[in-house]
This record gives sequence, structure tokens and C-alpha cells, in this order.
Amino acid sequence: MAAVCQPVSWDTDSVDEQERIMGRRRDGEWPDGVLVGEEPNLAADPKGRRTPLDSHVRLAAPDRRNLPQLVPRGYSYDRGGGDAGIIFNCYQRDLAEGFGAVQKRLEGKALAKCQLTTGGGDFFVPPPGDAWIDTS
Ligand code: HEM
Repeated sequence: MAAVCQPVSWDTDSVDEQERIMGRRRDGEWPDGVLVGEEPNLAADPKGRRTPLDSHVRLAAPDRRNLPQLVPRGYSYDRGGGDAGIIFNCYQRDLAEGFGAVQKRLEGKALAKCQLTTGGGDFFVPPPGDAWIDTS
């Protein structure tokens, strides 16, 4: 069954629904019963009976043995009065292959329907050392 979430309804959605939207259980286990620390075999569930086809984890990383070319790091915050959210960061060598490719798969899907994006930016992070500076 496809997961459904309306804007700002996340907090009132059941845990079951939230887990379907994410494609991962709160206790860290995978919907197909695979334990924490192991990788689910999404290909064995082509119709999305256990892990919905439009769930976040499944769309973001359809092949758990071949993860997309980005390192996501989310920081959640709650300043009270409903001012809560996540500062989503991701690191990649190539924006189109990293964020661009994954975001294209996530657009308009289950988790995106719960999101309200309020800002964003791209930043250049130099590699360690000074090899990137042309001193010639
Ligand atoms: C409200 C925004 C978001 C939330 C709450 C969120 C949350 C999560 C969670 C809980 C996981 C599972 C982590 C795990 O099981 O270990 C995950 C995985 C992932 N997310 Fe997001 N995410 C968000 C937005 C995004 C965006 C915008 C992108 C990229 C465009 C993205 C890319 C990924 C990728 C690639 C994975 C799989 C990484 C891996 O399993 O190593 N996420 N996300």
C-alpha cells in the first residue's frame, strides 16, 4: 500500500504510517524483518508489500549494496512552539550525481508531502590540506 501524508500532518500520523513513509521502523529494524545492522533485500519485494515503493529509504537508496553518491547528515531541532524541523545536509563530489539525482527520485513522493522547505544553499567544502590552492 502506498504511504500517504498531507502537509504538516506528520505529527498526527500514526507511527505505522510514519514508518511506511520512511520505509524503516522506529526501532531501526527494516520493514521486511531484516535486523539492525543488516541490509534489506528490496529487490525481493518488487511490489512494495513490506517496504512501500514510494517510501523515503527505498527511493533514496533503491539498492542498499550500491548507495547513491552522497553522504547525508540530518540535524533535527525543536525550539518549541511548533518550530521544529530538520537541517538536512549532504556531502558529494558532484551535485548533479549526488543531491540532484536523489532529490529527483524523492520529489512529490511520500516524505516530500510532509515537508515544508524554508531555505537551502550549496557550499564548496575544500578537501583537507592545501592541494586545491594553485600557488604557481
Ligand atoms: C525531511 C527530510 C528528510 C528526513 C526526515 C530524512 C530522513 C532519513 C532517514 C530516517 C533515513 C534512514 C537512515 C537509516 O535508515 O539509516 C534516510 C535515508 C536517506 N536519505 Fe533522507 N531524509 C530527508 C531528506 C532527504 C533528502 C532531501 C535527501 C537527498 C536528496 C535524502 C537522502 C537520503 C539517502 C541517500 C538515504 C539513504 C542513506 C543510507 O541509508 O545510507 N534524504 N533519510
